[in-house]
Amino acid sequence: MPSSCRLRRSVLYVPASNEKALAKLPHLDCDAAIIDLEDSVVPEEKDRARERMRAVLSGRDREGKEIIVRINALSSEWGGEDLLAARACRPDAILLPKVDTPRGVLDANDALDQADAPASLKLWAMIETPKAMLNLGAIAELGRDPSARLECLVAGTNDLVKETGVLATADRRYIMPWLMQMVLAARAGGLDALDGVSNDFRDEEAFARECGEARAMGFDGKTLIHPAQIGPANAVFSPSGAEIAEAEALREAFARPENSGRGAIALNGRMVERLHLEQAGRLLARAAAMKERDR
Ligand code: COA
Ligand code: MG
Repeated sequence: MPSSCRLRRSVLYVPASNEKALAKLPHLDCDAAIIDLEDSVVPEEKDRARERMRAVLSGRDREGKEIIVRINALSSEWGGEDLLAARACRPDAILLPKVDTPRGVLDANDALDQADAPASLKLWAMIETPKAMLNLGAIAELGRDPSARLECLVAGTNDLVKETGVLATADRRYIMPWLMQMVLAARAGGLDALDGVSNDFRDEEAFARECGEARAMGFDGKTLIHPAQIGPANAVFSPSGAEIAEAEALREAFARPENSGRGAIALNGRMVERLHLEQAGRLLARAAAMKERDR
């Protein structure tokens, strides 16, 4: 798991072409927002959307939210200008669409270096093509090289469905193996991993179930398309009161003098090891970050 405990439970796409949605953003309780210049913006609107992104992000208070800009592919006619415009807006990260290979990340990284972008400006990569799935390990490995800026993998499930021809069922049975590979690769590279979007934003029950599955699969959070999805995602990806109590009990047990120097102990009839103590520490760090954010 990544060492940072930056919360990315709810990560909302906001089309840069949608003035109303952009205006709503400051009032929404998502952990992060992706201002989108890519798929949610039609070609005729690309230039205007970029200008709107500039206007919205320049000098604005981020309200504690992480801000990411999704640019068009660097190989497209808009990508280069998007990247420079995004860099000037000082987002936390730039999200690269349709990354196929490590080169896709490295080219963007080189372009940022040439634009004197600070090291704090990170890259996120959409995993949404068959080629990306086949190159997943090599792409994620870039997470081990801090100079490559890569911080997070984002599942692009709609594109994966389109590109592969799998059937998009409600239970996502045919996509799940790929999602699990993404989480695995992200962990190998020390990256965060975000689940893809649920298109059906009116079905709250199905959405909460999908969030529960995403958390069980190991994702750090879910990408969202609609404000109604923020509350359920925050709730599902937050440690519960019972989980926090259990983690605290485990920490206390290992802190007892009689357990110092012991690798494994019994707690309520279960064997717990120091690796569980590490897990508990991470959960408590997330809980603390949540508390901090709620203040
Ligand atoms: N971010 C911020 N605000 C949003 C929003 C979003 N992604 N989606 C909807 N809203 C706002 C609407 O502007 C509306 O605001 P209002 O109360 O001031 O009128 C309110 O939330 C309710 O929206 P609603 O009427 O239910 O939906 P809609 O028909 O306006 O929009 C979508 C539906 C799907 C078109 C819209 O949610 C959307 O564009 N989502 C993002 C799509 C995207 O980015 N796709 C690419 C990544 S997969
Ligand atoms: Mg896509």
